[in-house]
Parts: sequence; C-alpha cells; structure tokens
Amino acid sequence: MGDRKTSLAEFSRHFKEINDELKESLDTRVALVEDIAEYSLLGEGKRVRPLLFVLCAQLCGSKQDNLYHFSTIFEYLHTASLLHDDVLDNADTRRKKPSARQVWGNPAAILGGDFLYSKASAIAVEWDSLKALRILTAMVSRMVEGQLFELSQTLNWHISKDQYLEIIIAKTAALMSAACSCGAIVAGADGEALERLSDYGLNLGIAFQLIDDVLDYTSCEEAFGKPVGKDLREGKVTLPLIYALSQLEGKEVERIQELFKSEKVADEDYARLIAMVRQLGVVQRIKAEAAEYTRKAVRLLDPFPPSPAKEELIALCSYLVDRDF
Ligand code: FPP
Ligand code: MG
Repeated sequence: MGDRKTSLAEFSRHFKEINDELKESLDTRVALVEDIAEYSLLGEGKRVRPLLFVLCAQLCGSKQDNLYHFSTIFEYLHTASLLHDDVLDNADTRRKKPSARQVWGNPAAILGGDFLYSKASAIAVEWDSLKALRILTAMVSRMVEGQLFELSQTLNWHISKDQYLEIIIAKTAALMSAACSCGAIVAGADGEALERLSDYGLNLGIAFQLIDDVLDYTSCEEAFGKPVGKDLREGKVTLPLIYALSQLEGKEVERIQELFKSEKVADEDYARLIAMVRQLGVVQRIKAEAAEYTRKAVRLLDPFPPSPAKEELIALCSYLVDRDF
C-alpha cells in the first residue's frame, strides 16, 4: 500500500508511553515472577495491540491521560497468550530470544502467563466498565477456542480455507478487534463508530496473521525473531500450504500425509515442502489477499473526520502488510 514503506519508528512516541506504563505497573513480590514478566514483556515486541487501543480512542476524540495505562491490558493479554502458546507449541524462540519456557521451564512459563493475565484483569477491573469487561472476557474465550480448534486440526492436510480463517480470526484478529472496540468505548463512542472500529481491528488482524503465516515460509530467523518453517514442524497447515496442496495431485498429497504420519520426517522433507510452497506462487496471492483486508480496514475509517490518529491507523495498515518481520 502506498509508495513509502511505513516503519514502526513512526509510532515511537506512543511506544515510549506504553513501555513506561508497562514498567510502572509490573510490581510483584516474587523475584521469579518479576524475571519472567520483565523478560517476556519488556524489550522486543511490536506493541501493536495497545497502539490500536490508544489510536482508536483518540480517533473517537478521547483526550484522557490514562489511555496508555489502560492500553497495557492488551499487551499483558497478548504476552500472557504467547507464554502459554510457546508451551503448547514447544517453541524455543520468541521475540528474537530463547522463549521463557526454554529459560525457566514449562511450569514457570505457564504461571508467568497466568500472572500477566491476572495483571490485565486487574487493570480492566480498575477501568470499571462493564461494557469493556464483556468484550474482554468474550474475546479471551474466543482465543482459547481458537487455540483448541487449531489443536484439533493438527496435521489435517484437508483443512479448508474457511476453517483456517476461523482459527486466525479467533486466535489473532479477535484480540486486535477488542483493542479497537475498547478504544471506542473508553472514548464514550458506541453504535456505528464502535462497530466500524471493531471491524477495522478484525480485518487488520486477519491481514496481520496472513502475513505472519506467509513470513513463516519466506522470512529468515534473524528478521522474523522465530525460526522459519515452524508452522509445518508444529503440524499447522496454514494458508500457504493449503493453497500449495490444492495445486498438487491427490496422490502427492496422500504421499505427504503418509510421510508425516510415519513420524520419519527428515529435515530435507521439510525443506522440500517449504521450497515447493515458495515456488507455487501462493505467497503473492496471499499478500494480495492481506492487502485487500487492509484496504477494507482503511475504508471502514472513511466517516471519521481527519485527525493524526486516523492517519496513524491508516499507516499501521501499510506497515502490517509490508513488513518483513
Ligand atoms: C500465536 O500463534 C498464538 C496466539 C496468537 C494466541 C494464543 C492464545 C492462547 C494460548 C489462549 C489464550 C490465553 C490467554 C492467557 C489469554 P502462533 O503459534 O501461530 O504464532 P507464533 O508463531 O508466534 O507462535
Ligand atoms: Mg506458536
């Protein structure tokens, strides 16, 4: 989108405020909790979710000075979900570092996630908005359902695009959509504005995960911050593979399916499948679809009057589809 590549640095004034709030609210009596929370939360991390909350609130005219404080709910929730996700996925790398479970083990990583989740809940309660709490609790249920549905589809070589979309909406887009809805709510907006921002977040979230799943086939570990080809190794059949498999003959799909069932998959087998996905032209197709989702997101902002927040919400769309990490 656009001629100029948007960089996250353009949002740095927001990130400083968000990071200061995260540091401020991270108090605990136990050193291990502090170590895990600081390690997982501070430092790398794109802060997209709290940013969405702040920008949507400002778009709806909020000038409250506690926006950044409440925005941390979304980074706490996101990081809590990643701590748990790395245990579910046996992942050793996260945000360019060894994952928390790799450093402290699975039990401590799970409890660290629980701690961050409870921090998010405490800040949400402090906000004292039943409307926001309803959105937040429904969204967390949706994320858990998404994870469980994804789990049930492990190594399903016949998963449909609709089923894949259901997973990414639940596990990724629901949180982004909730961050946007809550931004509208904190500003006192409802009705059409709330609905539009909820949809903006949903479309942006779908685009974000489509690109994430493409990068899993095309990026390099240094830039991406986690190993490439991880989805395949975790048995996740994502859209690049769904499209690639649809171009193969039934017999070839069966052969691959049998190979993975036998659990004798060698590094070369993974490399061959990844190379196949890269060659079949599916990457461009998915990038174009992601760009279409962000165009839809941008169109949803049309009725809002011009403002710096609106410009930034549009720029965020460009960043998220053009990113290479
Ligand atoms: C990463 O997906 C995982 C998520 C986006 C959601 C994880 C959600 C849960 C564990 C349930 C909710 C839990 C709490 C505490 C709110 P991925 O594995 O495709 O991406 P990755 O490659 O970055 O690991
Ligand atoms: Mg994962």
